[in-house]
Amino acid sequence: MTPPAGPPVLVLSGVNLGRLGRRDPLIYGDGTYEELVAACEAEAKEIGIVIDARQTDDEATMIGWLHEAADSGAAVVLNAGAWSHYSYALRDAAAQVTGPLIEVHLSQTAAREPFRHHSVLSAVATGTITGLGTDSYRLGLRAAARYRPRPIPV
Ligand code: DQA
Repeated sequence: MTPPAGPPVLVLSGVNLGRLGRRDPLIYGDGTYEELVAACEAEAKEIGIVIDARQTDDEATMIGWLHEAADSGAAVVLNAGAWSHYSYALRDAAAQVTGPLIEVHLSQTAAREPFRHHSVLSAVATGTITGLGTDSYRLGLRAAARYRPRPIPV
């Protein structure tokens, strides 16, 4: 299948997600970050899209990637890890993304500690998918390919 024109879908994973496989396996499973990316690549191939998967523990780097998406119009699948719960800087960067932005979480954050119940990103995301492990990313890719951005409320 010919991939659609336009920039690749950015699959952005934030702080501590490079530690998957070694980090809290009862919550996040045994799979590594590299295996997660491989699953995303396979899903992207099936959907007929191209992805660019990146991970960083550096908030400024993540903000730079979101600015890149704001300028290129790329769709974004974003798991910002713990930043999701408190980073207004990331929220302001995410609000500038011009393509669809799908927030994803591997774990069911609503069933965990109270500080994980709120995401400052959700209000500027096109949609949010949580609690489905690797499927959160797979479904996030399908949503990124399918949905248009939703207007940001003022
Ligand atoms: C997470 C949930 C966050 O609360 C946590 O800080 C993470 C991972 C998830 O994918 O379930 O790092 O975003």
